[in-house]
Amino acid sequence: MTKETKKILVTGACGQIGSELALKLSELYGKNNVVISDVAEPKPGSALADLTFEYLDVTDFATFESVVRKHNIDTIVHLAAILSVVGEQNPQKCWNINISGTLNAFNLGVKYELSKVFVPSSIAVWGKGVPKIAPQDGILKPTTMYGVTKVTIELLGDYYFRKFGLDCRGVRYPGIISAETLPGGGTTDYAVEIFYSAVKGEDYVCFVREDTRLPMMYMPDCIKAAIDLINAPKEKLTHHCDYNVGSMSFDVASLAKEIQKYYPNFKVIYKPDFRQEIADSWPDDVDDSAARNDWGWKPEFDLERMVKDMIEKLKAKLL
Ligand code: SER
Repeated sequence: MTKETKKILVTGACGQIGSELALKLSELYGKNNVVISDVAEPKPGSALADLTFEYLDVTDFATFESVVRKHNIDTIVHLAAILSVVGEQNPQKCWNINISGTLNAFNLGVKYELSKVFVPSSIAVWGKGVPKIAPQDGILKPTTMYGVTKVTIELLGDYYFRKFGLDCRGVRYPGIISAETLPGGGTTDYAVEIFYSAVKGEDYVCFVREDTRLPMMYMPDCIKAAIDLINAPKEKLTHHCDYNVGSMSFDVASLAKEIQKYYPNFKVIYKPDFRQEIADSWPDDVDDSAARNDWGWKPEFDLERMVKDMIEKLKAKLL
């Protein structure tokens, strides 16, 4: 995107990623060039509430189209989705929102010749039997409805590119850790909740075992991945909506140990529930050499830096 970029629409903008990515986009391309939408309004008085907001249920094509037309949208950053845990509680709703919403974004991309549609995928595309370090290309076999929708979206991305020439792009995000907005019902939420308990001086009851190891990423790198991929030269890309992006990988015990450097009395009590099975079906880490080679992906935060920054941010927010 350049300064001349017409306008970017961010769907699901009040969610964990959207609330920070939309602000970063408005810093980079101007407040008047970013329109945000969601089914919940931004918190009054928040920086997000300063951006142009449209109420949008992404499954409603007519309203989606009217927003694209009204604001002369050029790029859609399509974040509206149901995550893994909520998806298991209501698989049909997860399918409807994730698939119809994305198809609507892709069809609008074709109809209005948008320059790009960015739609993230997830580590949830993998399932049992996948190597511990998930390759870029290989067997997926997700076990959750969320994972099934994300694989479908990746395939739709390839299809829309081949059939209609739509420039759609996306990364397979790991669990995202951030201090601004809580994640909305995923399996990796423990890696965020644990910080809130530590900073508030409470024990944390963790819903997965201490040896549960998953790929994770801190929000500044999550935003960097989206912006770097959106801005990458098209001719360099060998994939569409399915780039692996690695950053850090740790088990809960190692995360707790790092937090205990700041809060020596902090305790985690392990009470695994149904979410353990989902976590166990995902890889420990990912091979992101395609993203590194094609568009120069390079994360900045490791576990130590992330924990330090999270604690500083949450102390300022909560205390
Ligand atoms: N954070 C997501 C989830 O746990 C994974 O993409 O559902």
